[in-house]
Amino acid sequence: MARPTLARDLMRRRQAVLSPTYFHHYDDPLIAARSAGVFIWDTDGRAYLDCYNNVPSVGHCHPRVIEALHRQASLINTHSRYLHDSIVTYAERLTATFPPELDMCAFVCTGTEANGLAYELARVATGNRGVVVTDGSYHGNLLDVGDMSLYRTRPSDRPDFVRAIPHPEPRFEVSRGNSGRNGKEIAARAEPVIRAQARSRSGLAMLLIDPIFDAPGIFTAPPGYLAELSGIVRGEGGLVVMDEVQSGLTRLGDNMWGFMDSGIVPDIVTMGKPMGAGYPLAAVAARRAIFEEFAARRRYFNTFAGTPVAGAIGNAVLDVIEGESVQQNVRDVGRYLSAGLLRLKDQFPCIGDVRGKGLFLGVEFVTDRQSPRPDPVTARALVNEMKRKGVLVSACGKVDSVLKIRPPLVFSRENADQLLETLRTSLREHIGNQTGTIMDSTRTRRASDE
Ligand SMILES: Cc1ncc(COP(=O)(O)O)c(C=O)c1O
Repeated sequence: MARPTLARDLMRRRQAVLSPTYFHHYDDPLIAARSAGVFIWDTDGRAYLDCYNNVPSVGHCHPRVIEALHRQASLINTHSRYLHDSIVTYAERLTATFPPELDMCAFVCTGTEANGLAYELARVATGNRGVVVTDGSYHGNLLDVGDMSLYRTRPSDRPDFVRAIPHPEPRFEVSRGNSGRNGKEIAARAEPVIRAQARSRSGLAMLLIDPIFDAPGIFTAPPGYLAELSGIVRGEGGLVVMDEVQSGLTRLGDNMWGFMDSGIVPDIVTMGKPMGAGYPLAAVAARRAIFEEFAARRRYFNTFAGTPVAGAIGNAVLDVIEGESVQQNVRDVGRYLSAGLLRLKDQFPCIGDVRGKGLFLGVEFVTDRQSPRPDPVTARALVNEMKRKGVLVSACGKVDSVLKIRPPLVFSRENADQLLETLRTSLREHIGNQTGTIMDSTRTRRASDE
């Protein structure tokens, strides 16, 4: 455990000088000192298995990324107004990962900026300013993009250029007598909202949507959902913008980008977090005609985006993804981990659901599987207990009742075993604390046993 006085002192200084919007994980906050691969060490030299961070996508401090950063920063780092090979090569490699229709890109520094630029593109292309987003979504935090992030604003503060459609939620569907797997049917229910937006004063500029709905609790899109929604939006003259800031770069395992799982081709794709493995690198890819029309009507320049260092790092991250079979690892370890979590669900009735895809998984806690009422108290207790045991996770969802598991993409089966074993032990202790008895009869079985 990091020295309590050091943590207390740092927290006091932080609270004195940083905006109150800054929050921290864990009752006993981590003082991060260094990291490598899937581990973070605190100032006492204690190692923590990182099951939470998606930004160090190819692992913390990957030597290839560090070497590229150092090499390019030692030579030159300027803006994009001079010619430099690294960012052009990166743009070529990045656009080659998309369907041929999405053959141009622009660089920015954050996911918020990527969605802001996508919105500008959509406004110029359609002449409209209305947006449709899914309930509880998060797309960034400034101005119009902040207003599109329903996760962070109260419905009463929502401006009328933003309208919400429900995100897919199988449990809700089942309560309506549906299977929850018929995406077409779920999407069709959004049609009146999309149509109303298109006929409103704002018109319809775009649907902004994630391939996986993480902020409301890690729900996946059922088959047919995105295709049906896209058809409705385009029928009303809007553009389809996929927010791949979290789900992109192999996170969901089956494809490089999450939207590819559904077979649709969006008009615009926004990306960020994992691209620079810690360096602020984000981008927008779109159909050529959309960028061309925008360039004819607007100037756009972003000082810190598309620099030689950004290009060098982006290329190094792609080198690792290609050279170390990262996508295959995500698929394999994601399935392995998901199977282990489902086994825990069989053992512990307080686990109401295990969901997600690839290395983006959620474990929902409920007070009672029949009702089922979310249980943020158990989720919070487990997040803190697992941290005490050296495993970092967090909680998400409408009331933070879902354990969020989203490790670096190079997470191994052995790492998954450590996570599962720690979760199992923590659950057993939590239940024991609650009832005074140990209810799990499988205490000697390793989580990885099949
Ligand atoms: C899906 C999604 N889009 C956009 C953003 C905003 O990215 P940034 O924090 O880089 O501005 C986030 C950040 O969490 C996100 O999860």
